[in-house]
Amino acid sequence: MGSSVEQCLLVTGGAGFIGTHTVVQLLNKGFKVSIIDNLDNSVLEAVHRVRELVGPDLSTKLEFNLGDLRNKGDIEKLFSNQRFDAVIHFAGLKAVSESVANPRRCFDNNLVGTINLYETMAKWCFRRLQQFMANQKDIHAAEPEWRIVLLRYFNPVRAHESGRIGEDPKGIPNNLMPYIQQVAVGRLPELNVFGHDYPTKDGSAVRD
Ligand SMILES: NC(=O)c1ccc[n+]([C@@H]2O[C@H](COP(=O)([O-])OP(=O)(O)OC[C@H]3O[C@@H](n4cnc5c(N)ncnc54)[C@H](O)[C@@H]3O)[C@@H](O)[C@H]2O)c1
Repeated sequence: MGSSVEQCLLVTGGAGFIGTHTVVQLLNKGFKVSIIDNLDNSVLEAVHRVRELVGPDLSTKLEFNLGDLRNKGDIEKLFSNQRFDAVIHFAGLKAVSESVANPRRCFDNNLVGTINLYETMAKWCFRRLQQFMANQKDIHAAEPEWRIVLLRYFNPVRAHESGRIGEDPKGIPNNLMPYIQQVAVGRLPELNVFGHDYPTKDGSAVRD
């Protein structure tokens, strides 16, 4: 996808960890970006910091929309106002522990949100999507005009080199790196290391 003619991308979940980093890159590459995020696991400050990182000029190419993919009206509003060249779909609840403790909330958020997004895109004859879920293969098989890229990544870590954006989940982090970071800055008291009789130097488990 080139950016010589200004192209506009919709990034769902664009205020989150992967979303903010992606949006910085997209703006720096010359794309216009529209974010939709309900700030369930992020804060508006992260979007302000994206603006700060790209500077005042590129920042005018970023639009933030507070909205929830579970409300079709929130998505409709965007598509009725703007023509998008592609959608990158990051919005979702990702914590494994939450999906076990409260599966209905996760199904409602992730499945209903994704279905609403597909349906609105199809309604506006717009079928270009990059996202992380698996079931769009079925959609592409049935409607080959969809152009879909699957992003399969495994636990990305680190923060932007500026240190201004990074992974800062609400509540107790479910991933190791943000947990360690929160202990380091004193937000959490300690990190528990589990396991004591694995065949390693200190008996704790070695993974990945
Ligand atoms: N971080 C990882 O290690 C990892 C690995 C593989 C896949 N993923 C997937 O990538 C995507 C992005 O991950 P992340 O680490 O940036 O997570 P994140 O929680 O930081 O970002 C997700 C964003 O989506 C928003 N959101 C959630 N539900 C929404 C809804 N219904 N409507 C609008 N906004 C909503 C949240 O407020 C948040 O800002 C997630 O779908 C996640 O499952 C992440």
